[in-house]
Amino acid sequence: MRVLLTGGAGFIGSNLSEELIERGYKVIIYDNYDEYYQGKKFNLKNLAKRRECTIIEGDILDYEKTLEAMKKTDIVIHLAAQPGVRYSTRNPEKTFKVNVLGTLNVLKAAKKSSVKKVVFASSSSVYGNPEYTPIDEKHPTNPISIYGISKLAAEKICLIYHRMEKLPVVILRYHTVYGPRQRPDMAIHKWTKQILDNKPVTVYGDGRQIRDFTYVSDVVDATIKAMEKEGIEGETFNIGSGKPIEIIEVIKLLAEIIGKEVKIKYEEPKPGDVKCTHAEILKAKRKLNYNPKTPLREGLTNFVEWYKLYGSNYYTRYQ
Ligand SMILES: NC(=O)c1ccc[n+]([C@@H]2O[C@H](COP(=O)([O-])OP(=O)(O)OC[C@H]3O[C@@H](n4cnc5c(N)ncnc54)[C@H](O)[C@@H]3O)[C@@H](O)[C@H]2O)c1
Repeated sequence: MRVLLTGGAGFIGSNLSEELIERGYKVIIYDNYDEYYQGKKFNLKNLAKRRECTIIEGDILDYEKTLEAMKKTDIVIHLAAQPGVRYSTRNPEKTFKVNVLGTLNVLKAAKKSSVKKVVFASSSSVYGNPEYTPIDEKHPTNPISIYGISKLAAEKICLIYHRMEKLPVVILRYHTVYGPRQRPDMAIHKWTKQILDNKPVTVYGDGRQIRDFTYVSDVVDATIKAMEKEGIEGETFNIGSGKPIEIIEVIKLLAEIIGKEVKIKYEEPKPGDVKCTHAEILKAKRKLNYNPKTPLREGLTNFVEWYKLYGSNYYTRYQ
């Protein structure tokens, strides 16, 4: 079985590609090494040596190239995106182009290539501020950021392709993923850098925001399960840890793991940031046999170890 991963050079994509190869799949990575942050070729260092892995540099906005790349694939995992809630406020056009038009191209090419399944990486951002918690998949979708709107639009296009074109699509709503290779614009990566550099940790708001941090290997496992499971086409699943925590507690835990005192610098909350993410994961547990395993302390320890080894290969261009 050949699996094509759009965005396979990124944080989740490179971790997922390695695990797919471990489980006996052939992998095609399709990625344009977008300039949002550096370090993506470094993510592929080990994968580039594997004969089970083909790497194609290409843009999902280039339909013909995307179609060409998909010719010999059975399954598509669509991860390529312009991520970043805050970035999307300043760059709505790029966010929409890549996340909406790019997704349309991927679906069109997947249909034309008769792929057996498309797994789409969506986000908890589609919910906006919760009306109740835990948030199940039936919760209203009222995104409060351009990024969230773009992901919701992409989800809707996936569902149209499923209903009208009979393309088998599964939607996964990932919740704040962390772990080795986490993007440098994400909170845990930035906090770790600030603590290790003996700088105060910047918190936007009062630090009481709640997040459902999900370890990357649990997300990888859920994605492979969704890819392999039959009879779930057209369905949407929350992929979270189901164990929400206030961000201030995560910062304290991170400082304890690193072994340093932490000072907090509070700043105004950023527009687009939701107050709480808290996934109801019963559906994924029941239908995918998803069972997130990594406790926060263990996941953070793994991240800090990775950061100390490789973190300097990454830098944040956008705050
Ligand atoms: N990391 C999270 O916490 C999280 C949470 C919810 C959803 N997601 C979604 O999961 C997916 C992967 O996220 P990530 O954190 O690994 O991000 P990432 O930025 O590390 O990975 C995305 C990859 O897509 C590539 N890409 C961007 N534009 C492209 C284009 N036009 N053509 C081809 N490739 C392109 C990038 O070069 C990058 O390698 C994204 O769709 C993201 O929206 C992530």
